[in-house]
Amino acid sequence: MTEAPPATSELLRRALADVRSSRVPRTAPYVPERAFPWGGPALCLAGAGGAADLARALRRSLAVPPGTGGRLRPVASAGALHPVRAHLLLGPGCSLPPGRYAYDPHTHRAHPRGRAPADVPPGAVVVLTVTLSRTVAHYGHRAWPLLLLDAGHAAAALALGAAPGGVRVSLDAEGAELSAAAGLPRAGEWTARWPGTDVELPLAALWLPPGRGPAPPTAPLAAWATLPRASDPVPQPGAETAWTRELDAARHLLESMTADPGSTWHPARRPAHVTDEILRTRRSATPSDLTHPPAPDLLARVLATAGAARPDGPVWAAAVGGDTPGLRTTAGTLAAGDARPTLARWAAGQQWIGTAGAVLVAHGCPADAPPALIRSSHLAAGYAAGVAHVHATALGLRARPIGSWQQADLGAALGDTPGHDWIVHGLALAGPPPPASSAPQAPPAPPAPSGKEERP
Ligand SMILES: Cc1cc2nc3c(=O)[nH]c(=O)nc-3n(C[C@H](O)[C@H](O)[C@H](O)COP(=O)(O)O)c2cc1C
Repeated sequence: MTEAPPATSELLRRALADVRSSRVPRTAPYVPERAFPWGGPALCLAGAGGAADLARALRRSLAVPPGTGGRLRPVASAGALHPVRAHLLLGPGCSLPPGRYAYDPHTHRAHPRGRAPADVPPGAVVVLTVTLSRTVAHYGHRAWPLLLLDAGHAAAALALGAAPGGVRVSLDAEGAELSAAAGLPRAGEWTARWPGTDVELPLAALWLPPGRGPAPPTAPLAAWATLPRASDPVPQPGAETAWTRELDAARHLLESMTADPGSTWHPARRPAHVTDEILRTRRSATPSDLTHPPAPDLLARVLATAGAARPDGPVWAAAVGGDTPGLRTTAGTLAAGDARPTLARWAAGQQWIGTAGAVLVAHGCPADAPPALIRSSHLAAGYAAGVAHVHATALGLRARPIGSWQQADLGAALGDTPGHDWIVHGLALAGPPPPASSAPQAPPAPPAPSGKEERP
């Protein structure tokens, strides 16, 4: 008698335990980024009628910036592997005629993939997918949470690029509906239907209403999901023909955690001082530039931003060193003592974290979390870290995300029942270095005009 395969929740529980264990990943040689697979005319997104300003939002988030050798994007990504792709579902009120499009980040152009439904609401829906092979080759069995975190960062970058303007973000839409809306097969059918092309797994969606137009429909994906599948991608040499065990496992795990029906759409807000220029210039600081403690008030503001970015995400705390080391939340001190050396050990032994100015950590996602919670914890943590990263940049701080966490049972370390409270993501923060004492002192800056200045 053959043994029945474990239920999805049990499979995910085991996979989560494996990711969080000290098992060393079996990695493969570097997989180069493959050419954009969607054919057809390459259309400019900017232009008249662009009430839902997708061109601006994509330029600030996913477009390859000119002059960088074609690799980096404005958004951060684990290992700089950038697995996130965007499919644009345009209704009336956008700069291109209604229809489905695939977005090419290298040319910042949209490729038409089919018509729009007759009753499509105005505005744009963006479905974010991930390709797996590069991240899985690099991180092995630890890749799938990083793909979720990456998709969260990309959703945040796109949402902030589009805000203000009523943009809504869903991190829990059903995978089958996302695939159908974007005109893509489910991951399990992909290679049979479109051999020689990279599988894309949809994980999140954004809704950009037209200008100051009406409130978004409650189900912006529904009309799109009734259409037949859209145009085919072009097969490419070297695409996912050889399925490693890890690639197959990651694909299956990610697809199985998007099975719950329904979707909730939360508004995106740009933190104060985050400009388009900040979104464009955001970078991850090098670890050696992350040693100076951030000013306490600025740290508190970034911590509050991370905590408030999503109502469906894990909670955040900040580990600080100095004279009064501890683990802080927006409500007070969670624990005394310097947690940073332990965090460094838990974050795949990245020693620099032990002396970082401060380390924000998102924690929750119990060992026995249901599939939907595993998905939302990681997507929302990535989203919140993305928002916090640009807010820190706008406040003059330096930041770097931290994605791989092993044995990081924060709850157990704080004396609670083991298995209930794990770190899922982190963001190292630092202030600029204090001016060198030997350097000539600059004259004090004049007070900023406030409009209500005191008279001498
Ligand atoms: C989900 C995620 C996890 C990351 N994890 C780490 C990490 O553990 N250690 C690290 O040094 N950098 C980490 N990074 C930073 C990336 O290496 C960085 O974003 C990438 O090299 C691109 O550079 P940029 O952010 O300056 O554009 C992470 C980034 C993301 C989005």
